[in-house]
Amino acid sequence: MTLPLDVKTRQRAVWASGDYPSVAATVIPELGARLVRACGVGPGDRVLDIAAGSGNAAIPAAATGADVVASDLTPELFEAGRALAAARGVDVTWEEGDAQGLPYPDGAFGIVLSCVGLMFAPHHQESADELVRVTARGGTIGLINWTPAGFIGQMFATMKPYAPPPPAGAQPPPLWGDPDHVRKLLGDKVSELEFTREHAVVDCFPDGAAFRDFFKTNYGPTVAVYKSLSGDPERIAGLDRELADLAARHDLGGGRMEWEYLLVTARR
Ligand SMILES: C[S@@+](CC[C@H](N)C(=O)[O-])C[C@H]1O[C@@H](n2cnc3c(N)ncnc32)[C@H](O)[C@@H]1O
Repeated sequence: MTLPLDVKTRQRAVWASGDYPSVAATVIPELGARLVRACGVGPGDRVLDIAAGSGNAAIPAAATGADVVASDLTPELFEAGRALAAARGVDVTWEEGDAQGLPYPDGAFGIVLSCVGLMFAPHHQESADELVRVTARGGTIGLINWTPAGFIGQMFATMKPYAPPPPAGAQPPPLWGDPDHVRKLLGDKVSELEFTREHAVVDCFPDGAAFRDFFKTNYGPTVAVYKSLSGDPERIAGLDRELADLAARHDLGGGRMEWEYLLVTARR
C-alpha cells in the first residue's frame, strides 16, 4: 500500500529540506559505487535505484552502460541528480515513486538496488514486498543499510528523544541494518541472501561540532528535528551537545570516522 498522502507529503518535505545532494557528495560519495559493484551491474542491465536521491548509486550504475531508472519520493532532489549525471556524461531516467507502491509492473528490472534509501520508507514489509515484486525472476537485489549500532543508527537514537513522534505504525529505519530483520522481510521470496558488514570512511569533518553543524544545516531528518525544537533553546543546546559528542566519540583520530552499514545481496 502506498503511503497516506499526509505522511508522504511530510516525508517528502523532510528530504527536500536542507541540501541532501551535498550530504551525499560530501559524506558518502563512494557508497553508491560500492553497491553497484556488489550487484555486478554492467552494460545493458535494466536497473532500478529505489529512493535514489540525487543518484549516488544510479549515476555509477549508468556509467557502466546500464539502462537506469532513478526513483524517489522527493523529486526536488532530481535537479541536482540531473546536473551530476550530465557532468559525468551519463543518461539516467528520473521518476517520482514511493518505495511502498512502485509504479512498475512485476519483474520489470533485472537489478534492483537501494543505497541507504529504501530503509527510510516507514512500513518495512510493504517496501520489501515491492522490492521483490519489481525484480525479474533470477534477477539481483542489492541494498546498503545503516546499522542500529553504527554511527547513523546511533545518530537517529540520539535525535529520538528530541523528535516529534513518528507516524503511526512507522518502523525505525536502522532495523534494515539487522540481518534477522531483513531475513524475515524477504523470507523465502529470495535465494542466495548474503550479508556483509562494512564501513564508510568519513573524514570530511575536523571535529564533532563541524559534523553537527553540517548535518543540522543539510541533512533533512536532522533539519526537521531542529525545526520542531524552535523556541526551545535549552533542548536545542542539549541536542547540539549530544550530536557533537556522538561524533567526537566516533573519532578514530584526525577526524576519521567509520560508519557501519550492512550490504545485502540476494537473487530473486
Ligand atoms: C539518505 S537518502 C539516500 C539517497 C541516495 N540513495 C543516496 O545514496 O544518496 C534517503 C532517500 O530516501 C528517499 N525516501 C524516503 N522515503 C521514501 C519512500 N517512501 N519512497 C521512496 N523514497 C523515499 C528520500 O527522498 C531520500 O532521497
